[in-house]
Amino acid sequence: MIDKKQLNSNIPQHIAIIMDGNGRWAKKKGLFRAVGHENGTKAVRETVESCTEIGVKYLTLYAFSTENWNRPKLEVDTLMKLLVNSLKKEIKTLQENNIRLHAIGNLQALPQKARTELLEVIEKTKTNDQMTLTLALSYGSREELIKTIEEISIKVKNGVISPHLINEAVINEHLYTKNLPDVDLLIRTSGEQRISNFLLWQIAYAELYFTEILWPDFKKTDLFEAILNYQKRERRFGKTSEQLS
Ligand code: IPE
Ligand code: IPE
Ligand code: MG
Repeated sequence: MIDKKQLNSNIPQHIAIIMDGNGRWAKKKGLFRAVGHENGTKAVRETVESCTEIGVKYLTLYAFSTENWNRPKLEVDTLMKLLVNSLKKEIKTLQENNIRLHAIGNLQALPQKARTELLEVIEKTKTNDQMTLTLALSYGSREELIKTIEEISIKVKNGVISPHLINEAVINEHLYTKNLPDVDLLIRTSGEQRISNFLLWQIAYAELYFTEILWPDFKKTDLFEAILNYQKRERRFGKTSEQLS
């Protein structure tokens, strides 16, 4: 069991998590996938609280991908209902912990009810400043990049931006994540070692951490273990080790 006392002051500023394994968690127990998703929300609460406890400033959770729309309708409906219920239930936790809610993705694609509830919680928490919790909903990195290219192209066409002035900052300003810093630590649960169309641009220099634990079983100590592992790494950003010391 890793305790927060084992961590040093180098807490990642931005943690992103691919919360995977709800379905397998349920299957192992002989339960419906929906029960796995329900239990996944408990892991979300514990993770959010643990992050605020140690001073993480940005936590971004992959909750629903553009590809997840291809799941059976019943499962998609269940996930959307769960989103609405969680938002209703967790607004209190967000306020108590001074957390600002934010969302990235094609929010227009969400059912009306989910979008309304989401925008309401975002509005109510907009002045909170302990941590920004970002939910990636109907999010796909390729879609985000297409949208970005389209918006920039229109500006070029209208003479607002000159093509040779397009740089990283211009791209960043047009992404859903425009108000978020780059990801420092990306965690994926459930043993899968892939990115699944999540924040492709934003994880260019993130440290990647994969764990076999299924998302509903992911506890505070598992988060701290991931951070401890992160703290043992040397982030060289292309330089040599000698240059850093
Ligand atoms: C993650 O768990 C939740 C979502 C993708 C919405 P999964 O539902 O993908 O669980 P597995 O991968 O089938 O175990
Ligand atoms: C990624 O999980 C999306 C979320 C966690 C929301 P998936 O379970 O959908 O990923 P793949 O399709 O197995 O890569
Ligand atoms: Mg999965």
